[in-house]
Amino acid sequence: MTIVPSNSEKENKKDAGVMKERKAASKNVPVDEIKDDADDALPVAPKPKASRAQLLSAKETAADLKSDATLRPQSLDEYIGQSRLKTMLTMSIGAAKSRNEALDHVLFYGPPGLGKTTLAKVISNEMGARMHMTSGPSLERPRDIIGLVHQLEADDVLFIDEIHRLSRVAEELLYPAIEDFVIDLTSGKGHATRTMRLPLPRFTLIGATTKAGMISNALRDRFGFVLRLDFYSKEELALIVARTSKLLKVAITQGAVDAIAGRARGTPRIANRLVRMVRDYGHFQGAETITEEIATGALDSYQVDAFGLDATDRRMLEILIDHYAGGPVGIETIAATLGEDSDTLEDVYEPFLIQAGFIQRTPRGRTATPQAYMHLKRIPSNQQLNIGQLTIDSIKE
Ligand code: ADE
Repeated sequence: MTIVPSNSEKENKKDAGVMKERKAASKNVPVDEIKDDADDALPVAPKPKASRAQLLSAKETAADLKSDATLRPQSLDEYIGQSRLKTMLTMSIGAAKSRNEALDHVLFYGPPGLGKTTLAKVISNEMGARMHMTSGPSLERPRDIIGLVHQLEADDVLFIDEIHRLSRVAEELLYPAIEDFVIDLTSGKGHATRTMRLPLPRFTLIGATTKAGMISNALRDRFGFVLRLDFYSKEELALIVARTSKLLKVAITQGAVDAIAGRARGTPRIANRLVRMVRDYGHFQGAETITEEIATGALDSYQVDAFGLDATDRRMLEILIDHYAGGPVGIETIAATLGEDSDTLEDVYEPFLIQAGFIQRTPRGRTATPQAYMHLKRIPSNQQLNIGQLTIDSIKE
């Protein structure tokens, strides 16, 4: 029997009660006369907390937001991974503090779930500064920006998530604010337009984006640091999984830690979500310690495979290989065939498939790699062999 992690055992008991009532009604006997047979007492657990797609999506969910508050590292020392970036930040924060200045503006870019917001909070903590948090789409009108910068005090951090989605007007109002710490207010219309320049306190802007290519050069050039976040190694993710388990008071073996880390797609947000899912699954099974067997049982039941690919990833590879002979295929075509939004494919699914070596981006579209053929156990066509994309040896295990 497949056991899907449940919302709560209470719901199972309720379901069993309902089934007994139905059976009693159909047999026309009192409920007490219906035995607790195994099937009724232990139904397949109801609805999982997160759908499979949500489980492996790097997009932030409400449950992530709630648990992140307790799991987020507060300092650079506590922060695991991104060592190149941490060294750079440690030096720059130290230097800014010793000069008693605000840190230069920072732009973080990279796939979702890798810790851009966490790092912004860590920087604020390290600088002993307050952080104001907002996002590109919510700063549409001039008055949104003016209202925001009006609240700034000296050395505050202003964090703008999805900064690539700032409106043109908002972006232009921000330029003098970032560069010269002034804001230009305009009043009146036509010939009567007047501009008043107001000084702002020195602050640090931290921008975050998953789409660095969509940021104008003018905006990008105004950041002192432009820092890319990379996917995490399995070893780094294992440290994060162990840390999260400890904070959530989950007893877990090293084998289970490694199994979760290996399937977390290089992404801490997913690793933390898998820890919560495996914990619930273990709890449902009455296990006191999460062993490797429980962890892999839980991951398998969600169809998260040994590489961390889920049903959507595999479908994307199948479409490339089975429908389009391995590509090249445009992302819009894949999205239409898959019934997914192309932005989601590009931002959430594709970066990991590229980094793990399953697909390649070429100027003519996406192509499947030999590793993708191997993973799906497909044999390439003669045509693909002829064009030298693959060799038969490369697809033999
Ligand atoms: N939780 C999520 N990301 C983390 C990180 N990089 N280090 C420690 N804990 C984390």
